[in-house]
Amino acid sequence: MKAPAKSSGSSSPAVSTLGVSPGREPRATRSFELFSLLAEHDHEQVSFAYEPSCGYRGIIAIHSTVLGPALGGTRFWNYRSDEEALVDCLRLARGMTYKAAVAGLNLGGGKSVILGDNRTTRREALFRAHGRHVESLKGRYITAEDVGTSTSDMEYIKAETNQVTGLIGKSGDPSPVTAYGVYRGMKACAAYRYGSDRLAGKTVALQGCGSVGYHLAQLLHAEGAKLVCADIDPQRVKRVVDEWGATAVAPSEIYGVPADVFAPCAMGAVINDDTIRRLEVEIVAGGANNQLAEDRHGDLLEERHITYAPDYVINGGGLINVNAELHGWSPERARNKAGEIYDTILRVFEIARDEAIPSYRAADRLAEQRIEAIAQVRRSHV
Ligand SMILES: NC(=O)c1ccc[n+]([C@@H]2O[C@H](COP(=O)([O-])OP(=O)(O)OC[C@H]3O[C@@H](n4cnc5c(N)ncnc54)[C@H](O)[C@@H]3O)[C@@H](O)[C@H]2O)c1
Repeated sequence: MKAPAKSSGSSSPAVSTLGVSPGREPRATRSFELFSLLAEHDHEQVSFAYEPSCGYRGIIAIHSTVLGPALGGTRFWNYRSDEEALVDCLRLARGMTYKAAVAGLNLGGGKSVILGDNRTTRREALFRAHGRHVESLKGRYITAEDVGTSTSDMEYIKAETNQVTGLIGKSGDPSPVTAYGVYRGMKACAAYRYGSDRLAGKTVALQGCGSVGYHLAQLLHAEGAKLVCADIDPQRVKRVVDEWGATAVAPSEIYGVPADVFAPCAMGAVINDDTIRRLEVEIVAGGANNQLAEDRHGDLLEERHITYAPDYVINGGGLINVNAELHGWSPERARNKAGEIYDTILRVFEIARDEAIPSYRAADRLAEQRIEAIAQVRRSHV
């Protein structure tokens, strides 16, 4: 693990290392537990900052910087406890390492959380305190928008640090790029499953007609796929029915729709004990994050001979879009990079077959192989 961040001056928020309040000795048992938490998944660093003047309480977790600076959004959430916030931050940071690694980006994984009520209107001081916290890590961590934060919050952060992306007027809405990556990943699933990647004539059951779902439906319609869709928001369903010729079903019915593909594009944990028995599809490929309620549901899909495109591989387009902003890529270059998700999904299935493991584990293997290979190169050229 790397050295923890130090406070960058008296006007900065008080930045402390894990479990250590400034000026106080850590309690041995507590800090032991916290460091065990880091050791469990090899996190490099965690930084805490507190700014009482505006009530800022923030955590930044850096899981890995082997491939590059750790990138991950800022989540603003009213956690039930500090521990819950830390565990969420660590888990999300690790997820970002894997997502960036399989997307072929030169980025590591990190995440930050701000503890509190995200409906607050007193945002400037809070997000500037967070910006100073980000700045104190000297480029090891780059932030972006996430649950509970907006592009205007990123502008406040930008006043204190350049280590922020997803700014107003820059790369913009990532969902068209995400949807394109999902579409390409779905075609790879079809190629693997049916020997042809043509989706014309295939039926796709689409859960969620929001930003990603809408753009995915457009691409599928253009190729001649049949669409069955559901959303809890009737207006969003109507748009996909009217514009892309979909047939609507009630949200509770989407799991049982006989189709070739189930495309979850709404919320997480939709592949669970209840839904797996109802699925009547051969492929699960969609944009939602954290689709498996638990890892064992990935095994259950395998047992049911359902081809599963691991979520963080197929929905990597959003991260690719953020990376494009960081490096000044053209929209076309970002889209092409998202198109490479096709080959990555096929590579995941190849590993799964060769090693006789489910696809969600094969995705982890692919990420770990890349990180290890680059770590080796770095070790041998010091
Ligand atoms: N936007 C991106 O670029 C991006 C990138 C990576 C991953 N994702 C993930 O993809 C998913 C969709 O993201 P989005 O940007 O389209 O969000 P969104 O809020 O625009 O759309 C989500 C849609 O799901 C609907 N929904 C919620 N609960 C539902 C339910 N029970 N049944 C049916 N529909 C339901 C909502 O009404 C909404 O229309 C999320 O899991 C998100 O984390 C998005």
